[in-house]
Amino acid sequence: MKILVTGGAGYIGSHACKALARAGFTPVTLDNLSTGWKDAVKFGPLVEGDLSRRADIDRAFAEHDPKAVLHFAAVSRVDEAMRDPALYWRNNVLGSLNLVEAALAHGCRDIVFSSTCATYGDQDNVLLDETTPQRPINAYGASKAAIEIMLRDFEAAHGLRHVIFRYFNVAGADPDAEIGEFHRPETHLIPIVLDAVAGKREAITVFGTDYPTPDGTCIRDYVHVSDLIDAHILGLRWLLDGKPSRDFNLGTGDGFSVREVIDAARRVTNRDVPTNIGERRAGDAVKLVSGSSRAREELGWAATRSTMPKMIEDAWRWHQVADYRQ
Ligand code: UFG
Repeated sequence: MKILVTGGAGYIGSHACKALARAGFTPVTLDNLSTGWKDAVKFGPLVEGDLSRRADIDRAFAEHDPKAVLHFAAVSRVDEAMRDPALYWRNNVLGSLNLVEAALAHGCRDIVFSSTCATYGDQDNVLLDETTPQRPINAYGASKAAIEIMLRDFEAAHGLRHVIFRYFNVAGADPDAEIGEFHRPETHLIPIVLDAVAGKREAITVFGTDYPTPDGTCIRDYVHVSDLIDAHILGLRWLLDGKPSRDFNLGTGDGFSVREVIDAARRVTNRDVPTNIGERRAGDAVKLVSGSSRAREELGWAATRSTMPKMIEDAWRWHQVADYRQ
């Protein structure tokens, strides 16, 4: 069975393709290669195309007749969303609208959608679960929240069924180091810390040490990319089994501050992490931690690799073999 994977050349999408292939599906990547990498598409065919062009999506459906969609393709940087909200509304919302309309036109009615804990916004020391009101504080979170609403409307009107996953901070890499995280420019904490460890950049700058947290730095809930993708395979099977549309948070419930992540990297790599202190970064929430057990209880999801040492260890292994000259 073929599954369309938008953004399959990216960090999370490429891990999804590997897991789909292992589970007996054929992942068909639809990617414009704007932030993804051709050589990360190793597990099924690539259709080069852009969600802003309906004809590109139609071509992927016509050529491959996928039975369901895993929709990862998006712009996803909070700092960029603060500067250029139009990019987020256009790319994420209009792209998703084109995708769901094309899916329906080709008789495909199951979609697994990558949403984000950024849809919840910044809520004082609250553990975020699926009943927490969504109050995004940046255009990235807002664009994803809008797509969630769109999916509900399309279900009511056209029977398009969805599983929505709200990711907390995705980290780590394929334990075989076949694929991993590689953004250009890199903005995410753990790869930047590892760049600093490896001497590929002078230092990591901690964005703000005056937050109302125990050590003054922001707290995030990190989840291993392979665990996150396990949930997607379960979510896909959930839809293929005919179960009702559902939304799930994907986090572990454990919060780590920026300083704690840096300390963990120091221990795992056994090397120094050159560190500077900087200003707060616009759009950052103080604390984003999942308070949900829904994915465990209903999907049977188990986050077995999402300890901080394991995530850094796998990211570090990938970091040492990744081709940084691309
Ligand atoms: N950070 C630093 N220095 C850096 C990079 C990050 O101190 O050089 C800090 C950030 O300020 C933040 C934490 O490390 O407090 C994590 O930052 P990331 O950029 O790694 O991740 P974000 O929490 O900003 O973003 C992630 C995903 C987004 C998602 C968001 C939800 O990358 O797609 O979580 O808030 F929207």
